[in-house]
Amino acid sequence: MAFSSQHGGNIIEAAAVMGVDASSLIDFSANINPLGMPDSLKRAIVENLALAERYPDVEYSALHQSLASHHQVPQEWVLAGNGETELIFNLVQHLAPRRALLLTPGFAEYRRALTRAGCEITDFHLSEENDWQPDESFLQALTPELDCLFLCTPNNPTGLMLDNGLLLAIAQRCCENGISLIVDEAFLDFMPEEAGLIPDLLRFPKLYVLRSLTKFFAIAGLRLGYMVSADTEMVNRIRQQREPWTINAFAALAGEVILNDHKYIEASYRWLSAEQPRLFNGLNALPGIKVWRPRANYIFMRCDIPGFELQRLLLEENILIRHCANYPGLDARYYRVAIKSPADNDKLLDALRRVISNKGGAGV
Ligand SMILES: Cc1ncc(COP(=O)(O)O)c(C=O)c1O
Repeated sequence: MAFSSQHGGNIIEAAAVMGVDASSLIDFSANINPLGMPDSLKRAIVENLALAERYPDVEYSALHQSLASHHQVPQEWVLAGNGETELIFNLVQHLAPRRALLLTPGFAEYRRALTRAGCEITDFHLSEENDWQPDESFLQALTPELDCLFLCTPNNPTGLMLDNGLLLAIAQRCCENGISLIVDEAFLDFMPEEAGLIPDLLRFPKLYVLRSLTKFFAIAGLRLGYMVSADTEMVNRIRQQREPWTINAFAALAGEVILNDHKYIEASYRWLSAEQPRLFNGLNALPGIKVWRPRANYIFMRCDIPGFELQRLLLEENILIRHCANYPGLDARYYRVAIKSPADNDKLLDALRRVISNKGGAGV
């Protein structure tokens, strides 16, 4: 059994299938910072509850100013959205690509947005033999017939980063061949050592960088993301033509507050730098499990124990992990787990040790 859900975080569906209360499940399927929403934001929301009574600023000027100054880019390069997802759909709608290239496995919403826009999609399959990375041969696939390429750095679900030199070569080749390049940096905030492509935007006029604030700042229910691009014509066109007020007042407030919460940001780095290697090493030590070394706050793995439905077995332990069987290019052996608090990570490791030894997998 595997849930039909396209995304992680669907604990309601999982709990219903198991006949248990959703609150009893530990959710390793959505990659959300376990430190929870920053206290500074909780305070700001409580102190500004009256914002719910008015329309938000339709231009979101203060929000855009705060995002622009965070990245030290002109304000007209920045467009916030109701989560990054809204911008994936807006951007595809306005770019109106006829032919797009997607890497598989990858995040499902690129395909949905492109399909909705009537775009023809070609898949470039990443292989386990190449460690789920494109190599130089990928550049040959970037021909002038293409209109659009999505990349995700770090990729979801593999958690791996493209080699920086190759990433820039891809951006250059897209630029030369008139291909709009959309780079999803939804999880880059978890990697303080990586600057991403925002500093290179001036060099690549058809490059669109997408960021999410829902994961790092644990505001997946509040919703906030943004796009940064030097293609001010496109940014403006989307700004002018999209529906008004899609970002609620508290999400807009969040964008003005959280990026300045350095205490929270530092605490998050401390948590991840301790728990990322610890959970990786714990999973890596399990028999029958192959794990890829993560770069962000989630871990990709393969279970080689025959007949083992890891998601179902862990649900019996009140733990929900993300199966990856519905990612094109993967099958039922692949899973993704979020890196959570030390206590929750211990529960996952204990539960895995139990289900593996109970089901006779120890000899694998
Ligand atoms: C790679 C990737 N991009 C974008 C998103 C969507 O982010 P948001 O919550 O900001 O819409 C997700 C959500 O899971 C994701 O995994």
